[in-house]
Amino acid sequence: MEKKLVVANWKGYKTVSEAQEWMKEFRAMIVVQQLNNVSVVICPSFVVLPRMADEVSKLEGVKLGAQDVSKFGEGQYTGEVSAKMLRDFVSFVIVGHSERRKYFGETGEDVGRKVEQCLKYDLIPIVCVSSVQELSSFPSDLACRQAGLNPNGTIFAYAYEPLSAVGTGEPDTPENAQEFALKIKKEISRDIRVLYGGSVNAKNAKSFVSQSDIDGVLVGQASLDAEEFADIIKTTEQENKGTL
Ligand code: PGA
Repeated sequence: MEKKLVVANWKGYKTVSEAQEWMKEFRAMIVVQQLNNVSVVICPSFVVLPRMADEVSKLEGVKLGAQDVSKFGEGQYTGEVSAKMLRDFVSFVIVGHSERRKYFGETGEDVGRKVEQCLKYDLIPIVCVSSVQELSSFPSDLACRQAGLNPNGTIFAYAYEPLSAVGTGEPDTPENAQEFALKIKKEISRDIRVLYGGSVNAKNAKSFVSQSDIDGVLVGQASLDAEEFADIIKTTEQENKGTL
């Protein structure tokens, strides 16, 4: 049994000092060295990453992720942050989040190019998908890579995030999430990992991480509070222990 992944997506929240305060509280609440069944990924904004990288490097089992990446490599692309730049700080990148699609017009084609960039620099993409239909908006070579053709052997993760559940306080049902996870694994590859995201909190996390094909959770709002995020991790650790 693989470790479950618990990912914090801080979106457009937290300054450097707020992030440091969060880390202080988080460390007081959880002894990450004692986590055997869970890996933790924290995704702050780009500007917070360098400072967080120092803090997180001392914590085994905790990694940093970015919330986005440029679809271009390095070059004359004002304002962009490339995968090559991110590689110094992060191991994971959230790609194609529904808020990027909604507010920044990201397309399936863009998602494909961003994934390319991640894989080129050994970053693990967490590709957000809001529905089965959205899967077909991805370029077909993206599916090939997921089927294990990625030469680096980088693991690949999907996050099932239905639009009605993201930031609404109305999560999908664990059964729907399980069904989606199973479908995506059958269609693409058993090797990929599928997370659920959308209004996950300390109360409902257990119902999602206990599903056999759900490999973790992507947490927005509830991850802003260090105590609640630590509770989600503890619940996941406990639940996954039971299945080992
Ligand atoms: P939420 O966000 O937990 O606030 O619904 C999840 C996400 O957007 O990744």
